[in-house]
Amino acid sequence: MREGLKVLVADFGGQYAHLIARRCRELGVYSEIVDPELVGGELERGGVGGVIFSGGPRSVFEPDSPSIDLQPILGKGVPILGICYGHQLLAKLLGGRIEAGRLREYGRTRVEVLEYDKLLEGLPRRVSAWMSHGDAVVEPPPGFRVTSRSESGIVTSMSDEIRKIYSIQFHPEVVHTEHGREILRNFLEKICGIKPWWSPGDRIGEIVEEIRRIVPEGERVICAVSGGVDSMTTAVLVSKAVGDRLYCIFVDHGLMRKGEREGVEKSLRKLGVKNLIIVDARERFLRRLRGVADPEEKRRVVGEEFIRVFEEEASRIPGVRWLAQGTIYPDRIESGRASRKAALIKSHHNVGALPERMNLKLIEPLRDFYKDEVREIARRLGLPDEVVRRHPFPGPGLAVRIIGEVNEEKLEICREANAIVEEELKHSGLYDRVWQGFAVVCNDKWVGVMGDERVEGYIVIVRIVESVDGMTADWHKIDHEVLERISNRITREVPGVTMVAYAATSKPPSTIEPC
Ligand code: XMP
Repeated sequence: MREGLKVLVADFGGQYAHLIARRCRELGVYSEIVDPELVGGELERGGVGGVIFSGGPRSVFEPDSPSIDLQPILGKGVPILGICYGHQLLAKLLGGRIEAGRLREYGRTRVEVLEYDKLLEGLPRRVSAWMSHGDAVVEPPPGFRVTSRSESGIVTSMSDEIRKIYSIQFHPEVVHTEHGREILRNFLEKICGIKPWWSPGDRIGEIVEEIRRIVPEGERVICAVSGGVDSMTTAVLVSKAVGDRLYCIFVDHGLMRKGEREGVEKSLRKLGVKNLIIVDARERFLRRLRGVADPEEKRRVVGEEFIRVFEEEASRIPGVRWLAQGTIYPDRIESGRASRKAALIKSHHNVGALPERMNLKLIEPLRDFYKDEVREIARRLGLPDEVVRRHPFPGPGLAVRIIGEVNEEKLEICREANAIVEEELKHSGLYDRVWQGFAVVCNDKWVGVMGDERVEGYIVIVRIVESVDGMTADWHKIDHEVLERISNRITREVPGVTMVAYAATSKPPSTIEPC
């Protein structure tokens, strides 16, 4: 077994592609997503122990569907695992037979193992697997044996153990596939021969070294801190690297959670950050947001204003050349920046909305990490528990939890209702068991009665989700007593609310935040 090798995930455009990298890392093998055409070059550079071809939305029958040059991979004897689209692509490139539109087995499907190879070792005969594609492999390429089939007879896995090529129709990276984790572990350990070696917490030294290397002596860094785990971790990493050449800036845009400003100040002081500048920009942001109802426009306005405030502050500190940001991997993925082929879902604040004209260089020490990996780093750095455990909060803050125009009235309702949801989650012991819980203020009103009076008030939607990395999420099946307490407190304690609703939709099809 070899240590220190990474696995490449050739991205054929599916959102699932990114989960594959995530799972490999959980299994202790560092994994990176690359464009298929860059795989050859990466192999030349060395250090690669295996290549996984991801799923993707296209059909191999489309004339311009994405493909890959197999020669450099086979030439080096690096094992390949094809998943979904990757499975069909391997069949196509190596001479198997695929039928268009044949696969009608979407979602959960039963798969029967016919022969055990290294990939399926240790699995039971029958597995429930998650599939999502239209085309299907009906005959494997020469040299391959079929190792499993689905109920309708299509080839759900096949392998050529001599050339170390394995492929499966279903998705081992999703939790809905039974034994998916074992399949990936088999690939990494038994087929690629990689001994688990990677853990995010062990990377701190390297990250600090890298920041030290790229920021020249004498140049200063400003860091946007919001109080969330990403920006606080970024600040601590950068301060370890450059000491008091770091200036942390907290922009109070008025879209923060209740008590956030005070909390940030206390935590950062405790962490020994010397230069902390707090900018009160509440009025400025509200003014810019007036009349803006479109979600993407709102994100753009907040992002742009944010950077402006930053530039103004930076210009007051001599020698500032760098901006450190807490961008994490899913932010890049969902903004379409990690890969050209992933569709843009929403322009996350700290990435897509950055104005091009910004003239500071960026440091993003967490750009390759997922949220729970960041939490592990934060814990290792000794950040306070309340920061490490804190639910994620979007960069544009409460602006994305208000549907339609942001005004002071809706903002106040949103802030108070969010605080109630957080408090009740903490009281009931749910806070640490869910990914996120928050309240959204709708634009429409609901008629209510107050004594004998007819009143119109806002509708507040409570959303609580479970997730591993924010990429997909299940709505939390909340205990009705907890929900009732939340609902009662919101209508009683927050003036202007006449209805509380609970969001019962997962991601997909919804995103977690409403805007
Ligand atoms: P969505 O709403 O895209 O959110 O399903 C996925 C996760 O990301 C958080 N989120 C953001 N985080 N900047 C951030 O740093 C943003 O602009 C942003 N928008 C959403 C969201 O809270 C969820 O945890």
